Amino acid sequence: MPTDPKGRTAPGYERHVFVCGHERPEGASRPSCSKRGSLDLMRLLKTSAKTAGIPNVRVQKSGCLDFCEFGTTCVVYPEGTWYSISNEDDIPKILEHLRTGTVAEELRLKLNK
Ligand code: FES
Repeated sequence: MPTDPKGRTAPGYERHVFVCGHERPEGASRPSCSKRGSLDLMRLLKTSAKTAGIPNVRVQKSGCLDFCEFGTTCVVYPEGTWYSISNEDDIPKILEHLRTGTVAEELRLKLNK
């Protein structure tokens, strides 16, 4: 039976964040988050969470989350909160969600204006 090298006794995280890192080729019929700089935003969120000492949070790249027109697309569990991240200025608001659970309402992904 393997043992967890980090000493954990159960799987999972307090908050689990997926940031779309999908990239489509030039001329594709839909846009893609990677071309908007999503991987840089994901790395910034990840390092910021670590620097801030927010425990038991996992930030990682995902494949296409299928809301490509509204990206950079991001979803935070367990709340199931969907975000559209525009730029680095939005990262502190997502961090606050990770720290306190308070949803950044202004960043919620909205399909209808
Ligand atoms: S390419 Fe990011 S949601 Fe589809």
